[in-house]
Amino acid sequence: MSSYAAHIATVQARFDAALTATGFDSAFIYAGQPRVAFLDDNPAPFKVNPLFKYWIPVTDSPKSAIFYERGARPVVFLFQPRDFWHAAVKIAPAEWQEHVELVVVDSLEKVTRYLGDKLKATAFLGEHFAEPVASWPVRAHNPDALIDHLHFHRAIKTDWEVENLRVANDRAAKAHLAAKDAFFAGKSELEIHHAYLAAINFRESELPYNSIVGLNEHGAILHYDVYETSAPRESRSFLIDAGATYRGYCADITRTYSREQSGFFAELVEAVDNAQQALLGEIEPGVDYYQLHVSQHLKIAQILSDFEFVRGSAESIYEQGFSSAFFPHGLGHFIGLQVHDVGGFLRNDRGDQFDRDPRHPFLRLLRPVEEGQVFTIEPGLYVVDQLLEAHANAKELNWQRIDELRPYGGVRIEDSIVVGKAGNNENLTRDAFARLEN
Ligand code: GLY
Ligand code: MN
Ligand code: MN
Repeated sequence: MSSYAAHIATVQARFDAALTATGFDSAFIYAGQPRVAFLDDNPAPFKVNPLFKYWIPVTDSPKSAIFYERGARPVVFLFQPRDFWHAAVKIAPAEWQEHVELVVVDSLEKVTRYLGDKLKATAFLGEHFAEPVASWPVRAHNPDALIDHLHFHRAIKTDWEVENLRVANDRAAKAHLAAKDAFFAGKSELEIHHAYLAAINFRESELPYNSIVGLNEHGAILHYDVYETSAPRESRSFLIDAGATYRGYCADITRTYSREQSGFFAELVEAVDNAQQALLGEIEPGVDYYQLHVSQHLKIAQILSDFEFVRGSAESIYEQGFSSAFFPHGLGHFIGLQVHDVGGFLRNDRGDQFDRDPRHPFLRLLRPVEEGQVFTIEPGLYVVDQLLEAHANAKELNWQRIDELRPYGGVRIEDSIVVGKAGNNENLTRDAFARLEN
């Protein structure tokens, strides 16, 4: 059996279980359609419903849909409008077509006619802001119980999903190397961004998220995506957090570079990189992701102490909340069909949630680590003045050292990890860079 055949069998089984548990006979999974800007007729880039691309690797076919009745063959309604304004979406022959009943339609009325009374009994999954879909008499729209059930089980990736994530990482790593070269060539943030896209023949809307391309102080702005159009007089440091997609699956990679190959900032980049790699060695089934987050905090706290940004032991720096001022975001998140993939707070498939810890409000993943999960590990250390304000009078903070770091922004290193048995994990990101270097 091919890996895709096994994947769609798994998706089907997961839908069977979710529909049974929540009392539905069928689901109608609408791909969605682009929204237009206010008082305008220009569409925003189309982002397909993740639950649609979970079934089939089709990401560019608005108004298409999948109808799945428990135990039956899925029906894919491929929307191919008769429209001389736009190029037709080309759907090449592909393996997924062997596993579904394919119905090509040129209007949504044909879908309702095909389904007849079955529409009234179905759970509609997707956006329904536009007619005629908005007025369809379905049994429920996006029922929480069904979505929670599906989201909980999506955390364990199939082999086919991991293959796609591998390719997404290959693409992103290739683009990262082009961006790195552009940084060392003294290019502007916008030029670096263009070099990234050109390296993999991407248009911007194909990226899984707005790339973060920050020179110097901009490295400290966690979601910086402004892109200066002229290069600074001196490019001291470069933080790039940028991904790629393949068959709808996402890569999410961060690297930080120092222009100088030695000295203070180069050493800090190396220290964070070492701390990230040390944490990778602690990942194994049964460990709580929350504990990994705390363990990474202690390692960052040790760096804060070693580099004399903060005085005290790693434990005291963590306990007093200082490490959260320098490392304010979560250790990472699930990744897959969505860059921040779903289900990180779910305790079970009935929708119960883990309690959030107010100490770590931005941590998106609280589940125990399990074989087959894929998540990012992305520690950082930055000078974020807004967060340091709360500690303005703390005698433990060494402002002279912090002022030295401020012109460099900060450091983040981010890889994606596939959890294997007993710590036998796959690092999708470092493996992708290694393949390019060979
Ligand atoms: N690129 C967003 C993140 O790392 O979560
Ligand atoms: Mn991330
Ligand atoms: Mn990222």
